[in-house]
Formats: sequence, C-alpha cells, structure tokens
Amino acid sequence: MVDQPNPIQFSFIRREIQQLVAYSADAEVPDITCDKLDANESAYDLPSHLKEKLTWQYQNLIETNRYPDGTYRDLKSAIAQYVNESSNVSFNAQNISVGNGSDELIRSLLIATCVGTNGSILVADPTFSMYKILAQTLGITTISIPREETHFTIKCGQADQAIAQSSASGNPVKVVFVVHPNSPTGNLLSDKELDWLKQLPEDLLVVIDEAYFEFSQNTLVEELVKHPNWIIVRTFSKAFRLAAHRVGYCVAHPQLIQALEKIRLPYNLPSFSQAAALVALENRQQLLATVEETKQERERLYQAFASDARLTVWPSSANFLYLRCNQSHNEAQLVADLKQQGTLLRYTANGIRLTIGSPQQNEHTQQRLTAYLNQGE
Ligand SMILES: Cc1ncc(COP(=O)(O)O)c(C=O)c1O
Repeated sequence: MVDQPNPIQFSFIRREIQQLVAYSADAEVPDITCDKLDANESAYDLPSHLKEKLTWQYQNLIETNRYPDGTYRDLKSAIAQYVNESSNVSFNAQNISVGNGSDELIRSLLIATCVGTNGSILVADPTFSMYKILAQTLGITTISIPREETHFTIKCGQADQAIAQSSASGNPVKVVFVVHPNSPTGNLLSDKELDWLKQLPEDLLVVIDEAYFEFSQNTLVEELVKHPNWIIVRTFSKAFRLAAHRVGYCVAHPQLIQALEKIRLPYNLPSFSQAAALVALENRQQLLATVEETKQERERLYQAFASDARLTVWPSSANFLYLRCNQSHNEAQLVADLKQQGTLLRYTANGIRLTIGSPQQNEHTQQRLTAYLNQGE
C-alpha cells in the first residue's frame, strides 16, 4: 500500500506522535566513498581477522532458528570486567544491563521513571537530541535549560529553579540527563557541575551518558557507590567500532538494573550482536589502539582551526570537534557545501560537529573547510 496524496489521519494514533517527524540520522543513504564525519562513528571497520572470527561463529555456533541468550550472562560479565579496569570499585553482572544501542536503555529509563506519572526530564542544551525525542514519543515533558555560552557548562542555578518550578507545577523533574563529555560540544562535566549533581536529592535519577568514555578516559563509575540514584550509560557504537551491531550498556545499582530488566523486550539483543560485542571486548587492546590516533588528529585539527580567525573551536574530550564560524560565514551553508564535495558533517545548535576520521579524511575536511572560508574573501 502506497502513501495517498491525501493521507488518512488515523485518530487512534496519539496526537503528539502524529505531529512528530520520524528521526532520521541521514536524510539519504550516503555514498560509501563519502567522508562520513557526521555521526561520531569510528573511522575504522573491524579488522578482517575479527570479521572472519565472527563469520566462523555465525556458521558454527549461532542457530538462526533459536532465540538469543536472553540472560546475556557472558556479555554482562565481560562488560563488568571491562568497567572494572577503570575503577577501584568492583562491579559484576548484576550491575549491568544491555540494550539495543544505548538509545534503547535511555527509552527504558524514561519508561521506568516517567510514563504513567506526571514526571518530566531535565536536559541542558545543546546536548544529545535523543533524550528529548524519546521523551516526546512517550508523552513526557522535557525541560531544557541553557549552558554557558563560553564553555558550555550547565547553568546550575537555572537548573535548580527549573526543578523547583516543575515540582510546584505538578510535573516534577524525575530524571536529569548529562553527557560526559557532552555531545555536540565535547566538554567534560566540570567540578562545579559535579558538585551540583552530587547535591541533587536522591529521589531524582541522574543519567550520566559516557558514550565517549574511551576517548576521554574519564568516568564517574566509582561515584555509583555513593550515589545509588546515578546510572552510567555507555555504548559499543563509538570507540569499539560496532555501530552496525547496536550494543549499549549501563552500570548501576542492582535494583535499578532490575527495573530495566523488567522493561526491556525479552530478546532485545540479537545473537550476532552479542557475539560481536564479546569479540570486541576480547580484542579490546587491538580495537582501542586507534583511540590514540583519533586523539592526536583531534589535537592537530583543533590547533589548525583555533589558529584560523574565521573560526571558533572548542576543546574536546571526545572523537569530534565543535566549531562555529565568526562573522559572515554561515555554518548551515558550509555543511551543505561540503556535503556536495563528499564530506558529511553535522549542523547542530548553530554550529558544526565534525567527527574525527582517518588522517586522510581529516586532511580532506581541513582543505575543503578552508577553501569554503576562502571563498568570497
Ligand atoms: C551522547 C550519546 N549517547 C548515546 C548515543 C547513542 O548510542 P547508541 O548507538 O549506543 O544508541 C550517542 C550517539 O551518537 C551519543 O552521542
């Protein structure tokens, strides 16, 4: 059945869903030869010997007629071990839940906290857009407060006011989402922001999204012991190079994990994705070796952009940079122009988020960006 010229309004679809535009990361599927620097993915595919290993597992160990292991026992244990490598506190499988991408975990957290109640969520813009989008699909209100213009730290005073007002209005904030480091701006939580998070009441859930942990090597997992109302969310989509497999996980108090386990679909992670995440963890030394190159390239590009008076670029602890044009140049036009030339960047919050790619891709981007800025001068 095709779309009609006069589309039917299905009255059984909730009004807010009818009004929503479906989320699409890419308006069109990009050409594989493009420099795809718009989604903060790794520039590198899995090495072929690991793909071969996975192919062997698919041939010999995975029965496609069987549902996946829905307990995720092996994967959760392997994740806990990995988390423990950067923590003086020891976590185990009971502290871990896995999701079909961390997006799924974010949605489960919203279901666990706000659906069917008057709860709302608090975010500090600009930040990762999915919190708000997922909240909208569930009929949950998002309260957005601004960040400081210079360093993008959260305006904590405004956040406190918003939380107090939300309680008074009968739609209390139940969840605060922060990203460490933030996307699209690349900044880690500052000491002041951390102090603010620490004094929030325990009846608020604090979600700390560490999607870019491997690039920042800065984690708050140890804080979970002192703050059982905090949860850390991470992903295999970035440094582990597994965006195609959609594997996310979170670390939290076992009772919070239990709530998520009640909400998730029975077999939310396909057998092949579980196998891929296990192979990635077993070979983490090799896979994460590219993180160093990404960081060096990030610094090289940062220095180059920082020395160009036509640009403002912010320091980043992730695998991307955030920049804005000074004076007359237009960021949206720049992104559209570079797309025509085969470099995909993300235009967001009146700025440009540029994923660090391979050295060759970064070289292209630098050349094309500079050529764009030189036009009309
Ligand atoms: C901050 C942040 N959190 C979560 C995600 C989603 O990750 P996943 O691929 O695991 O759903 C992204 C993806 O870009 C992100 O930037």
